[in-house]
Amino acid sequence: MQNTPFDLTGRVAVVTGSSRGIGRSSAELLARLGAKVVVSSRKAEACKEVADGINASGGDAIVIPCNIARKPEVEALIAGATKHYGKIDILVCNAAVNPYYGPLLDISDEAFDKIMGSNVKSNIWLSALAIPEMAERGKGSVIIISSIGGLRGSTVIGAYGISKAADFALCRSLAGEWGPKGVRVNCIAPGLVKTDFARALWEDEANLKRRTATTPLRRIGEPEEIAGAVAYLASDASSFMTGQTIVIDGGVTTAAV
Ligand SMILES: NC(=O)c1ccc[n+]([C@@H]2O[C@H](COP(=O)([O-])OP(=O)(O)OC[C@H]3O[C@@H](n4cnc5c(N)ncnc54)[C@H](OP(=O)(O)O)[C@@H]3O)[C@@H](O)[C@H]2O)c1
Repeated sequence: MQNTPFDLTGRVAVVTGSSRGIGRSSAELLARLGAKVVVSSRKAEACKEVADGINASGGDAIVIPCNIARKPEVEALIAGATKHYGKIDILVCNAAVNPYYGPLLDISDEAFDKIMGSNVKSNIWLSALAIPEMAERGKGSVIIISSIGGLRGSTVIGAYGISKAADFALCRSLAGEWGPKGVRVNCIAPGLVKTDFARALWEDEANLKRRTATTPLRRIGEPEEIAGAVAYLASDASSFMTGQTIVIDGGVTTAAV
């Protein structure tokens, strides 16, 4: 992989929510491409398994647990990563929550605040802590894992969609503010991917059948199929790209129905 624009040798990546799912696949691929990786989620033990796997296959990973809803833990994540590896080149804001499933107007204030706090405000905290140091070195890549839920309406996960749409706006504004200093900020908007997060959607066979019938590729995605775009956005292969969103959804948002 060396001598290609996808080579990440010498780069340092922090991936939130990387004990499983899309975050784990992303952390593992970034490590395979040469990056040193900070594996993070609320549960240190689950992260340790991922980091151990990376280290056992010749990579370099450490664990720093962090609940993205808690500012002191977010501060400790960025400070700990910088202390251990000396810098952060790649920040993947992947962890998110969705504690509510139902009509939008019935959501409690508490659930709404939790969604916006974890899915939007924490991305601002992470960015505010990591980007200035990237800018001092004139280079960095921030990747926010949003969702196609931010691109279209939903009758059951509307508040989550609001938070993911906010991530697109956050990405565009940060791209404009920090592009002149060499820091790029992009989003990825996955469609339905087979992870614990979306279990309720793909375990329901009727829902899965309905969904795949209107998806051009006729299936849902796997976490590895999102990780490739994370690696692209993290690397110099995407050096002229900022403020954008890559949609990876088997074509469902483009389909003729
Ligand atoms: N799966 C889909 O269909 C889909 C579609 C579109 C977008 N997405 C987005 O993809 C991202 C990753 O989701 P996923 O599907 O890979 O989910 P997942 O497999 O359930 O993994 C979620 C990860 O985030 C961690 N996490 C959960 N809450 C956290 C918190 N408060 N603080 C820190 N870490 C936390 C989990 O570990 P711990 O439990 O140890 O904290 C885990 O590592 C999310 O932003 C999600 O919105 C997913």
